[in-house]
Amino acid sequence: MDKTKTIQYQEFTLLELCDFEQELIDAAMNATSSAYAPYSNFHVGAAVRLDSGEIVTGSNQENIAYPSGLCAERTALFTAATQHPDSAVLALAIVARNSDGKIVPISPCGACRQVMAEQESRQDKKMRILCYNSNDKILIFDGVESLLPFVFTM
Ligand code: THU
Repeated sequence: MDKTKTIQYQEFTLLELCDFEQELIDAAMNATSSAYAPYSNFHVGAAVRLDSGEIVTGSNQENIAYPSGLCAERTALFTAATQHPDSAVLALAIVARNSDGKIVPISPCGACRQVMAEQESRQDKKMRILCYNSNDKILIFDGVESLLPFVFTM
């Protein structure tokens, strides 16, 4: 029997976002400058908003032994969990730049989606995921379920 699952997301321009979300996008944009990406030349910045209001950032950190590197999203989420283990993550913004410094669309990889899902279950609260897309549009997912249907759990 065929079954269908739909996902939902919103699309906004930067100016349509509230100040809180614009600030998070700005933080992710700034974090692209700390990326260490000599192999891919793809510079990703992520910024996490905690329930305390604090912002924690991360960027991708590559390594000559390729799988040893880490994506910006997990760098930010693991840093937040290390420094603020009792805080919930309300939102996560992601921005990417190519080798010319131009902002390019970004959508989180599967491993990062799985880590977002576990953070949601740890805190028993959904997070909003803001992805900088093309033409200065921001895609917003209200919870990781829309990005990772059929998430792995045990
Ligand atoms: N990358 C991220 O940091 N986040 C993503 O969502 C996708 C990919 C990084 C990993 C690697 O350093 C580079 O981008 C190219 O894949």
